[in-house]
Amino acid sequence: MNKNIIYLNNKYIPLNKAKISVLDRGFLFADGIYEVIPIYNGKPFRSQQHLERLERSLKNISLPSPLNQTQWFNIFNKLIKKNKASIGCYHFYIQITRGAAQSRGHAFPENIPPTILVTLNKSTKNLPLEILMQGKSAIICDDIRWKNCHIKSIALLPNILFSEQAHKADSEEAILIRDGYAIEGASSNLFIVKNNTLITPPLSPYILGGITRDAILELAKLNNIQYQEQPISEAELKNANEIWISSSTREIYPITKLNNNPVANGKVGPIWQRMIKLYRDACNS
Ligand code: PDD
Repeated sequence: MNKNIIYLNNKYIPLNKAKISVLDRGFLFADGIYEVIPIYNGKPFRSQQHLERLERSLKNISLPSPLNQTQWFNIFNKLIKKNKASIGCYHFYIQITRGAAQSRGHAFPENIPPTILVTLNKSTKNLPLEILMQGKSAIICDDIRWKNCHIKSIALLPNILFSEQAHKADSEEAILIRDGYAIEGASSNLFIVKNNTLITPPLSPYILGGITRDAILELAKLNNIQYQEQPISEAELKNANEIWISSSTREIYPITKLNNNPVANGKVGPIWQRMIKLYRDACNS
Protein backbone atom coordinates (compact mmCIF):
# COMPACT_ATOMS: atom_id res chain seq x y z
CA MET A 1 0.00 0.00 0.00
CA ASN A 2 1.13 3.57 -0.60
CA LYS A 3 1.05 5.94 2.33
CA ASN A 4 -1.33 4.28 4.79
CA ILE A 5 -4.02 6.82 5.71
CA ILE A 6 -6.26 6.04 8.65
CA TYR A 7 -9.27 7.68 10.30
CA LEU A 8 -8.79 8.63 13.95
CA ASN A 9 -11.33 10.75 15.84
CA ASN A 10 -12.54 12.80 12.90
CA LYS A 11 -9.15 13.16 11.19
CA TYR A 12 -7.57 11.43 8.21
CA ILE A 13 -3.87 11.05 8.96
CA PRO A 14 -0.93 8.79 8.07
CA LEU A 15 -0.75 5.73 10.31
CA ASN A 16 2.71 6.66 11.58
CA LYS A 17 1.38 10.03 12.82
CA ALA A 18 -1.53 8.56 14.79
CA LYS A 19 -1.49 8.88 18.58
CA ILE A 20 -3.93 8.10 21.38
CA SER A 21 -3.75 8.83 25.11
CA VAL A 22 -2.04 6.43 27.52
CA LEU A 23 -5.25 6.82 29.55
CA ASP A 24 -7.36 5.43 26.73
CA ARG A 25 -9.65 2.81 28.24
CA GLY A 26 -8.92 0.48 25.36
CA PHE A 27 -5.28 0.45 26.46
CA LEU A 28 -6.01 0.35 30.21
CA PHE A 29 -8.96 -2.04 30.34
CA ALA A 30 -9.67 -3.38 26.82
CA ASP A 31 -12.89 -1.39 27.25
CA GLY A 32 -14.07 -1.34 23.67
CA ILE A 33 -15.28 -3.26 20.66
CA TYR A 34 -14.14 -3.77 17.08
CA GLU A 35 -15.36 -4.82 13.68
CA VAL A 36 -13.67 -6.20 10.55
CA ILE A 37 -15.16 -5.57 7.09
CA PRO A 38 -13.70 -7.13 3.94
CA ILE A 39 -13.44 -4.99 0.80
CA TYR A 40 -13.44 -6.50 -2.69
CA ASN A 41 -12.40 -4.16 -5.52
CA GLY A 42 -13.38 -1.07 -3.59
CA LYS A 43 -16.71 -2.47 -2.36
CA PRO A 44 -17.11 -3.29 1.34
CA PHE A 45 -18.78 -6.74 1.47
CA ARG A 46 -21.93 -6.99 3.63
CA SER A 47 -21.12 -3.65 5.25
CA GLN A 48 -24.73 -3.24 6.40
CA GLN A 49 -24.55 -6.50 8.38
CA HIS A 50 -21.15 -5.57 9.83
CA LEU A 51 -22.44 -2.18 10.96
CA GLU A 52 -25.49 -3.82 12.52
CA ARG A 53 -23.20 -6.15 14.49
CA LEU A 54 -21.09 -3.14 15.50
CA GLU A 55 -24.25 -1.48 16.86
CA ARG A 56 -25.11 -4.64 18.81
CA SER A 57 -21.59 -4.83 20.28
CA LEU A 58 -21.78 -1.17 21.35
CA LYS A 59 -25.18 -1.71 22.92
CA ASN A 60 -23.89 -4.77 24.79
CA ILE A 61 -21.19 -2.69 26.48
CA SER A 62 -23.47 0.35 27.01
CA LEU A 63 -21.44 2.59 24.73
CA PRO A 64 -23.65 5.01 22.78
CA SER A 65 -23.30 4.70 19.03
CA PRO A 66 -20.96 7.54 17.96
CA LEU A 67 -21.71 7.65 14.19
CA ASN A 68 -24.65 6.91 11.94
CA GLN A 69 -24.57 4.74 8.81
CA THR A 70 -24.10 7.68 6.46
CA GLN A 71 -21.10 8.85 8.47
CA TRP A 72 -19.58 5.35 8.45
CA PHE A 73 -20.03 5.01 4.69
CA ASN A 74 -18.50 8.42 4.22
CA ILE A 75 -15.40 7.32 6.17
CA PHE A 76 -15.20 4.07 4.19
CA ASN A 77 -15.38 5.85 0.84
CA LYS A 78 -12.77 8.40 1.85
CA LEU A 79 -10.34 5.75 3.11
CA ILE A 80 -10.70 3.68 -0.05
CA LYS A 81 -10.03 6.78 -2.14
CA LYS A 82 -7.16 8.13 -0.04
CA ASN A 83 -5.46 4.73 0.04
CA LYS A 84 -6.12 4.01 -3.67
CA ALA A 85 -7.72 0.74 -2.65
CA SER A 86 -10.34 0.38 -5.37
CA ILE A 87 -8.72 -2.72 -6.87
CA GLY A 88 -7.83 -5.86 -4.91
CA CYS A 89 -8.72 -7.24 -1.48
CA TYR A 90 -8.54 -5.11 1.66
CA HIS A 91 -10.15 -4.91 5.10
CA PHE A 92 -11.37 -2.19 7.38
CA TYR A 93 -10.58 -2.63 11.05
CA ILE A 94 -12.86 -0.43 13.18
CA GLN A 95 -11.95 -0.04 16.85
CA ILE A 96 -14.12 1.96 19.27
CA THR A 97 -13.14 2.41 22.92
CA ARG A 98 -14.80 4.29 25.78
CA GLY A 99 -12.19 7.03 25.37
CA ALA A 100 -9.65 8.54 27.76
CA ALA A 101 -10.75 9.89 31.17
CA GLN A 102 -8.69 12.27 33.32
CA SER A 103 -7.67 9.47 35.66
CA ARG A 104 -7.80 5.72 35.94
CA GLY A 105 -11.02 4.23 37.33
CA HIS A 106 -12.89 1.07 36.45
CA ALA A 107 -16.44 2.48 36.38
CA PHE A 108 -17.57 4.35 33.25
CA PRO A 109 -16.36 7.97 33.16
CA GLU A 110 -18.95 10.65 32.32
CA ASN A 111 -18.94 12.90 29.24
CA ILE A 112 -15.88 11.41 27.60
CA PRO A 113 -15.84 11.11 23.80
CA PRO A 114 -15.09 7.59 22.54
CA THR A 115 -11.92 6.87 20.59
CA ILE A 116 -12.76 5.87 17.01
CA LEU A 117 -10.14 4.31 14.77
CA VAL A 118 -10.61 2.92 11.26
CA THR A 119 -7.66 1.42 9.40
CA LEU A 120 -7.58 -0.04 5.93
CA ASN A 121 -5.30 -3.05 5.49
CA LYS A 122 -4.27 -5.11 2.49
CA SER A 123 -5.60 -8.67 2.77
CA THR A 124 -2.99 -11.36 2.90
CA LYS A 125 -5.22 -14.33 3.60
CA ASN A 126 -7.42 -14.49 0.51
CA LEU A 127 -5.41 -17.37 -0.86
CA PRO A 128 -5.46 -18.76 -4.40
CA LEU A 129 -7.58 -21.86 -4.81
CA GLU A 130 -4.49 -23.99 -5.65
CA ILE A 131 -3.06 -23.21 -2.20
CA LEU A 132 -6.34 -23.82 -0.39
CA MET A 133 -6.70 -27.15 -2.22
CA GLN A 134 -3.72 -28.36 -0.17
CA GLY A 135 -5.82 -27.95 2.99
CA LYS A 136 -5.00 -26.46 6.38
CA SER A 137 -4.35 -27.86 9.86
CA ALA A 138 -6.11 -27.10 13.13
CA ILE A 139 -5.66 -28.07 16.74
CA ILE A 140 -8.28 -28.53 19.46
CA CYS A 141 -8.21 -26.36 22.61
CA ASP A 142 -10.36 -26.07 25.68
CA ASP A 143 -12.50 -22.91 25.43
CA ILE A 144 -11.58 -20.88 28.51
CA ARG A 145 -13.24 -17.64 27.33
CA TRP A 146 -16.00 -15.77 29.15
CA LYS A 147 -19.75 -16.17 28.57
CA ASN A 148 -20.22 -13.16 26.27
CA CYS A 149 -18.34 -14.27 23.18
CA HIS A 150 -21.15 -12.84 20.99
CA ILE A 151 -19.72 -9.35 21.72
CA LYS A 152 -16.90 -8.43 19.35
CA SER A 153 -14.79 -7.22 22.25
CA ILE A 154 -11.22 -5.98 21.90
CA ALA A 155 -10.37 -8.09 24.98
CA LEU A 156 -8.78 -10.84 22.92
CA LEU A 157 -6.15 -12.29 25.23
CA PRO A 158 -7.61 -15.84 25.30
CA ASN A 159 -8.02 -15.78 21.50
CA ILE A 160 -4.44 -14.58 21.09
CA LEU A 161 -3.11 -17.34 23.34
CA PHE A 162 -5.06 -19.95 21.36
CA SER A 163 -3.79 -18.55 18.07
CA GLU A 164 -0.21 -18.64 19.32
CA GLN A 165 -0.69 -22.24 20.42
CA ALA A 166 -1.97 -23.08 16.92
CA HIS A 167 0.89 -21.19 15.31
CA LYS A 168 3.46 -23.08 17.40
CA ALA A 169 1.83 -26.34 16.28
CA ASP A 170 2.15 -25.22 12.62
CA SER A 171 -1.61 -24.95 12.42
CA GLU A 172 -3.96 -22.39 10.97
CA GLU A 173 -6.48 -22.32 13.77
CA ALA A 174 -7.44 -23.56 17.23
CA ILE A 175 -10.92 -25.07 17.37
CA LEU A 176 -12.47 -24.45 20.79
CA ILE A 177 -14.33 -27.06 22.80
CA ARG A 178 -16.72 -26.08 25.60
CA ASP A 179 -18.47 -28.76 27.66
CA GLY A 180 -17.75 -31.42 25.05
CA TYR A 181 -18.99 -29.35 22.07
CA ALA A 182 -17.00 -27.67 19.30
CA ILE A 183 -17.91 -23.98 19.41
CA GLU A 184 -15.86 -21.98 16.90
CA GLY A 185 -12.25 -21.15 16.07
CA ALA A 186 -10.09 -18.67 17.99
CA SER A 187 -10.89 -16.11 15.26
CA SER A 188 -13.34 -17.89 12.98
CA ASN A 189 -16.61 -19.82 12.88
CA LEU A 190 -16.80 -23.55 12.44
CA PHE A 191 -18.58 -25.79 9.92
CA ILE A 192 -18.49 -29.54 9.44
CA VAL A 193 -19.97 -31.75 6.76
CA LYS A 194 -21.55 -34.97 7.99
CA ASN A 195 -23.41 -37.28 5.60
CA ASN A 196 -23.62 -34.51 2.97
CA THR A 197 -25.17 -32.06 5.43
CA LEU A 198 -23.39 -28.85 6.35
CA ILE A 199 -23.54 -28.26 10.12
CA THR A 200 -22.57 -25.19 12.14
CA PRO A 201 -23.16 -24.54 15.85
CA PRO A 202 -26.27 -22.44 16.57
CA LEU A 203 -25.90 -18.79 17.59
CA SER A 204 -25.45 -18.38 21.34
CA PRO A 205 -23.52 -16.13 23.73
CA TYR A 206 -20.64 -18.62 23.37
CA ILE A 207 -19.92 -17.76 19.73
CA LEU A 208 -19.43 -14.67 17.64
CA GLY A 209 -22.19 -14.60 15.03
CA GLY A 210 -19.97 -14.33 11.96
CA ILE A 211 -21.05 -12.35 8.93
CA THR A 212 -19.22 -14.89 6.75
CA ARG A 213 -21.15 -17.66 8.55
CA ASP A 214 -24.44 -15.95 7.63
CA ALA A 215 -23.33 -15.59 4.00
CA ILE A 216 -22.43 -19.30 3.83
CA LEU A 217 -25.81 -20.33 5.25
CA GLU A 218 -27.61 -18.08 2.75
CA LEU A 219 -25.60 -19.53 -0.12
CA ALA A 220 -26.32 -23.08 1.10
CA LYS A 221 -30.05 -22.31 1.11
CA LEU A 222 -29.99 -20.70 -2.33
CA ASN A 223 -28.04 -23.59 -3.84
CA ASN A 224 -29.87 -26.49 -2.23
CA ILE A 225 -26.98 -27.56 -0.02
CA GLN A 226 -28.53 -29.21 3.02
CA TYR A 227 -27.57 -27.44 6.24
CA GLN A 228 -28.36 -27.41 9.93
CA GLU A 229 -27.54 -25.11 12.81
CA GLN A 230 -26.98 -27.57 15.60
CA PRO A 231 -24.40 -28.37 18.29
CA ILE A 232 -21.34 -30.34 17.12
CA SER A 233 -19.90 -32.76 19.66
CA GLU A 234 -16.14 -33.24 19.86
CA ALA A 235 -16.65 -36.79 18.52
CA GLU A 236 -18.63 -35.47 15.52
CA LEU A 237 -15.86 -32.96 14.84
CA LYS A 238 -13.24 -35.70 14.89
CA ASN A 239 -15.31 -37.93 12.60
CA ALA A 240 -16.46 -35.22 10.18
CA ASN A 241 -16.29 -35.72 6.41
CA GLU A 242 -15.19 -32.08 6.06
CA ILE A 243 -14.22 -29.30 8.46
CA TRP A 244 -14.15 -25.62 7.48
CA ILE A 245 -13.44 -22.38 9.28
CA SER A 246 -14.84 -19.05 8.11
CA SER A 247 -14.06 -15.39 8.71
CA SER A 248 -13.98 -12.04 6.96
CA THR A 249 -10.20 -12.26 6.60
CA ARG A 250 -9.84 -15.94 5.65
CA GLU A 251 -13.11 -16.43 3.78
CA ILE A 252 -13.55 -20.22 4.01
CA TYR A 253 -10.56 -22.43 4.74
CA PRO A 254 -10.77 -26.22 4.51
CA ILE A 255 -9.24 -28.03 7.50
CA THR A 256 -7.80 -31.35 6.40
CA LYS A 257 -5.76 -32.16 9.50
CA LEU A 258 -6.99 -32.02 13.09
CA ASN A 259 -4.51 -32.51 15.92
CA ASN A 260 -2.19 -34.06 13.29
CA ASN A 261 -4.79 -36.61 12.19
CA PRO A 262 -6.30 -36.50 8.70
CA VAL A 263 -9.89 -35.25 8.48
CA ALA A 264 -11.71 -38.10 6.62
CA ASN A 265 -9.35 -38.97 3.72
CA GLY A 266 -7.16 -35.93 4.43
CA LYS A 267 -8.21 -34.13 1.23
CA VAL A 268 -10.41 -31.07 0.75
CA GLY A 269 -14.04 -32.09 0.38
CA PRO A 270 -16.50 -31.62 -2.52
CA ILE A 271 -18.93 -29.40 -0.60
CA TRP A 272 -16.16 -26.97 0.39
CA GLN A 273 -15.05 -26.85 -3.26
CA ARG A 274 -18.57 -25.88 -4.24
CA MET A 275 -19.03 -23.37 -1.46
CA ILE A 276 -15.74 -21.49 -1.91
CA LYS A 277 -16.66 -20.79 -5.54
CA LEU A 278 -20.15 -19.63 -4.59
CA TYR A 279 -18.72 -17.45 -1.83
CA ARG A 280 -16.09 -15.83 -4.04
CA ASP A 281 -18.66 -15.16 -6.74
CA ALA A 282 -20.84 -13.45 -4.13
CA CYS A 283 -17.93 -11.34 -2.86
CA ASN A 284 -17.02 -10.19 -6.33
CA SER A 285 -20.51 -9.59 -7.69
N1 PDD B 1 -12.44 -12.53 13.51
N2 PDD B 1 -15.47 -15.96 15.71
C1 PDD B 1 -14.47 -15.23 16.21
C2 PDD B 1 -14.03 -15.46 17.61
C3 PDD B 1 -13.84 -14.24 15.41
O1 PDD B 1 -12.85 -13.49 15.93
C4 PDD B 1 -14.27 -14.08 14.06
C5 PDD B 1 -13.65 -13.06 13.15
C6 PDD B 1 -15.32 -14.88 13.59
C7 PDD B 1 -15.85 -14.75 12.19
O2 PDD B 1 -16.62 -13.57 12.02
P1 PDD B 1 -16.76 -12.86 10.60
O3 PDD B 1 -17.17 -13.90 9.65
O4 PDD B 1 -17.81 -11.84 10.81
O5 PDD B 1 -15.41 -12.26 10.26
C8 PDD B 1 -15.90 -15.80 14.45
C9 PDD B 1 -11.90 -11.40 12.80
C10 PDD B 1 -11.71 -11.63 11.35
C11 PDD B 1 -10.68 -10.86 13.51
O6 PDD B 1 -10.68 -10.93 14.73
O7 PDD B 1 -9.77 -10.33 12.89
